[in-house]
Parts: sequence; C-alpha cells; structure tokens
Amino acid sequence: MSADGFNQGPPPGARADWTIDQGWAGYSDAEHQVWMTLYERQTRLLPDRACDQFLQGLEALDLHRSGIPDFERINVELLRLTGWSVVAVPGLVPDEVFFDHLANRRFPAGQFIRKPEELDYLQEPDIFHDVFGHVPMLTDPVFADYMQAYGRGGLRALQRGQLANLARLYWYTVEFGLLQTPQGARIYGAGIVSSWAESIFALDDPSPNRLGFDLERVMRTPYRIDDFQQVYFVIPSLQDLLDATLQDFAAIYERLERSGDIPIAAILPTDLVLTRGTQAYAAKRAAQ
Ligand code: PHE
Ligand code: FE
Repeated sequence: MSADGFNQGPPPGARADWTIDQGWAGYSDAEHQVWMTLYERQTRLLPDRACDQFLQGLEALDLHRSGIPDFERINVELLRLTGWSVVAVPGLVPDEVFFDHLANRRFPAGQFIRKPEELDYLQEPDIFHDVFGHVPMLTDPVFADYMQAYGRGGLRALQRGQLANLARLYWYTVEFGLLQTPQGARIYGAGIVSSWAESIFALDDPSPNRLGFDLERVMRTPYRIDDFQQVYFVIPSLQDLLDATLQDFAAIYERLERSGDIPIAAILPTDLVLTRGTQAYAAKRAAQ
C-alpha cells in the first residue's frame, strides 16, 4: 500500500515518480534463497486454497523457484496479458504516487526482500509480498481493470479527503479478499496468499467472521494491521466486484460521512453470514 503524506519528494536516487531500478544483478545468493524458501512454502500450500486466477497467474509469469524474479522478464508476459507492468520503488510511496501508478496500470513493488530471520514478520511490504502476492492477480483481465479503477478512485478520494473509507475497500479486497467458488471459498487477497499462517487461518480457522461482500458495509468496517483479520468478505466473482465499483462513489461518500463505523467483529441483520466466527483467536490475543 502507500505511506501517509504526499508533500515530500522522492528519496535520493529515485526518479520523480518514485521508481528506481530493480537492480536484479545485485541480489545476493542469500536473498535469492529467501525468495525460494518462501516461494516453495507457499506453492505447496496454495493449491485448493488460492483461487484459480491466482494460481494461473503464478504459472503464466513463472515466478520461479530459482530466485527473485527479474521485473524486466515478468513484464514481457504481464504487458502482453493485461497491459500491466511492475515497477520498483524503494518502499512505501505517498498515496498520490501510488494511485497514479495504478491508474496507469503500473504496480509499484518493493525492491528489497525480508531477512531470513524474519520470514513471517514484516513491517513494510517487501518484494515477496508485492510480487508473489499481488502480481499474479494482475494477469486476470477483470482484476486488472479493478486495480486500475481503484487507482483512479484513489486520486478522487484523496481530493475529497475520504481516503480512509476507500482504503478499507482495498484492504478487504486486494489484500484480504476471499472469492466464492463451487469448491468453496478461495483466496485472492495478496496479504493472505503471501502469508503461510494466514493462508490457513483465513479459510480454516473458526475464529473470524466470513461475510458476503457489500461495498458500503466494507467501507464502514475498520481493519487490523497488526494481526490476522477478524472478518473476511467473500465476493461472488471478480466481475461482481468490478461491477459494484463502477458507480460514482460520491453518493456513497456522502452517506459514509453520516453513517458510523461498524465494530470490527459485528454481524448485522443485513449481513450474508458464511461463517459466524467464534472470535476466539482475537479474544485470546487481546488477553495476552
Ligand atoms: N467508482 C469509484 C469512484 O467513483 C472508483 C473506484 C473504482 C474505486 C474501483 C474503487 C475501486 O470513486
Ligand atoms: Fe499489499
């Protein structure tokens, strides 16, 4: 995602749009090894968990086992499939810069990789989260359009001062979204597919609520950045998600200014309840 504030310029060495060279030749063997460890762990886990669009994207881009992918190589196929490309950035970028890249079908990805001693804990998204997590879905034409539309919508929300509500939509779809399929719920969110523990928790644990996706409801629901989610929203299809966001959000933003937030673990009478979570995990963590 993106960092707060948008008045500061790019750091030294970065271009005006905050991009840098990936510097692929500069990765060490140890860094490639971290990618391979994470890649193998996730690809063993994700069949029957991640949605077909993700698994097919992973395959199509050949985000291979032999190390950190070279953006120049994966961009050839990504551009051919959906007109998207991946650009390297030094870390989190200002909201405006982030949205402008998305609106132009460029996905800003961190260039660095986590340390071997912090395989599961990350403060800032690294190249594994950004590329393994996000980029496979960008090979799907419908999701590709959704991400571009989100970038345009982000620039508008920024001008209106209503980014907090829109950010929740990103969180509960792009990062932590689930997709209904005839075989059951499947993962498409990058925050889940790039995490070993949450790939299990999101689908199997009895603790979190799993609710049918409702645009305005999602935009009223706060989220946690420090732990597993307490609620996941399940979309009927990627096309349904795109369709729901085609409308002008102006009327929604006006209503959101008056309607309050919904407590994170609440279930409303109007919710489509797929799992009524026990919230046992969240309760246990709160008591620690
Ligand atoms: N339709 C939204 C708007 O009018 C833009 C948007 C599209 C936002 C897709 C999010 C996702 O602001
Ligand atoms: Fe992300």
